Amino acid sequence: MTNRRRFLTQSVAASTGVFYIAKTSWAQKSPGDTLNVGVIGFGGRGGSHISGYNKLKKEGVRVAALCDVDQNILNKGVANFDKNGQKVGSYTDLRRMLDDKSIDAVSIATPNHWHALASIWAMQAGKDVYVEKPVSHCVWEGRQMVNAARKYNKIVQTGTQSRSSVEGIGGAVKWVQEGNLGKILLSRGLCYKRRDSIGKTDSVAKVPESVNYDLWCGPAPLEPPHRNGKKGPIHYDWHWFWAYGCGDLGNQGIHQMDIARWFLGEMELSPRLWSVGGRLGYVDDAETPNTQIVYHAYEKAPLIFEVRGLPENKESKNMDKFKGAGVGVIVECEGGYVVVPNYSSAAAYDKEGKLIQEWKGSEDHFANFIEACRSRRKEDLNADILEGHLSSALCHTANISYRLGKKMKQGEIVDQIKGDYDAEASFARMAEHLGKNEVDLAKDQLTLGPSLKMDGKAERFIDNDTANDMLKDQYRAPFVVPEIG
Ligand SMILES: NC(=O)c1ccc[n+]([C@@H]2O[C@H](COP(=O)([O-])OP(=O)(O)OC[C@H]3O[C@@H](n4cnc5c(N)ncnc54)[C@H](O)[C@@H]3O)[C@@H](O)[C@H]2O)c1
Repeated sequence: MTNRRRFLTQSVAASTGVFYIAKTSWAQKSPGDTLNVGVIGFGGRGGSHISGYNKLKKEGVRVAALCDVDQNILNKGVANFDKNGQKVGSYTDLRRMLDDKSIDAVSIATPNHWHALASIWAMQAGKDVYVEKPVSHCVWEGRQMVNAARKYNKIVQTGTQSRSSVEGIGGAVKWVQEGNLGKILLSRGLCYKRRDSIGKTDSVAKVPESVNYDLWCGPAPLEPPHRNGKKGPIHYDWHWFWAYGCGDLGNQGIHQMDIARWFLGEMELSPRLWSVGGRLGYVDDAETPNTQIVYHAYEKAPLIFEVRGLPENKESKNMDKFKGAGVGVIVECEGGYVVVPNYSSAAAYDKEGKLIQEWKGSEDHFANFIEACRSRRKEDLNADILEGHLSSALCHTANISYRLGKKMKQGEIVDQIKGDYDAEASFARMAEHLGKNEVDLAKDQLTLGPSLKMDGKAERFIDNDTANDMLKDQYRAPFVVPEIG
């Protein structure tokens, strides 16, 4: 096995000319050895990666290195390990961490525009990868990640932890797919999550001295930040700018998009899609919509996704709920419906709303990654990179439609979406919700994107060059995501 793997990695290097392929990897160690993990980006979510792996010490897992482009965050992280008498490697540039042959796996929680490049470089350096959702910043690079995982024989887990609800949500998926509620009519994802204004700056903000901004931007354009919200000009609010983030659809929403697709069992991108929405209710620096509907016209049953960042009404702090879920999934079937209200449970109801069955339970998503690193079987992963790519891409294609859209009157939008199952009803509910937030749709018009046809196998739009151009980012050298054939 060891010899075969070494042969494979060497021949990959010879045939592709990639800049380096490390020969060492966990697969070449004996099973009792410690598995050394490096965490990349830990200002927010990466903190849970660190604690997640720390909990697995008894299983032979060790956080061996930390990397963050913000020196203050890096220093604090290292100091926390020092306090407990544990030495960790400390890096600003992830490439230097990848040079360290003692690191077996990396865990990536940087902003989205870095996910693909950091993952592919890590795989080329011989590491297994846990990468946060959305796994990609555009459709094309997600596919390169899948190709890289297969080509270099690496284990790549997507950070959609609800996939580790194997008995809970997974139990409901199996039950529905066995036909216990009849055919699926519609899979609906909901992301009703409060998102306030990030404020409005009138000039570019100064980058804090602790941040290596060239590395923070990486593959994205090196432009000064035009924001200065609660977390300052760099961290977190990038989610709401297209160069780095994907809006709440690709932030919170990707979790529910993934569950909604899981129920449908679809393993290709949708053959036709459109999106409508806007950033409404306040004026701030951000670009992405805070209110959005997505329609993926899968043949068997559509997938509709609804994003609401505003509360149930102008005076309230509460968010809307639909059939008991706010951030969740509702699967409508001939004989009733299933509600997934969180990351670890599901409940089935008949047509009258009477509870029929419940599922509960979740496993540790980090532990699942480690088990697969040891078994070397991608089939052991609860959220293999292919699943992450497809669900992330469903957010990206929807955002492409939205970004190609035009502002329109409410009546025009209704005319355009007529005929798509339940689209009109979903839109009517969205318009009502905006009305309760005192948004005047005659003045602040919504943007409706074109209905785009997609060749799901090729992951290319049909007859639309402008939309196809948006499937792949323009990368800033030397931070160029390589094509993996
Ligand atoms: N699975 C979940 O439940 C969950 C929850 C929250 C966030 N996330 C995901 O985690 C990722 C990070 O989100 P966040 O909210 O923590 O963002 P954040 O901006 O708060 O933190 C990102 C950190 O990455 C660092 N960073 C940026 N570029 C880097 C690079 N090239 N090398 C090393 N460090 C770098 C930043 O300095 C910062 O400390 C996002 O992709 C997000 O979608 C997942």
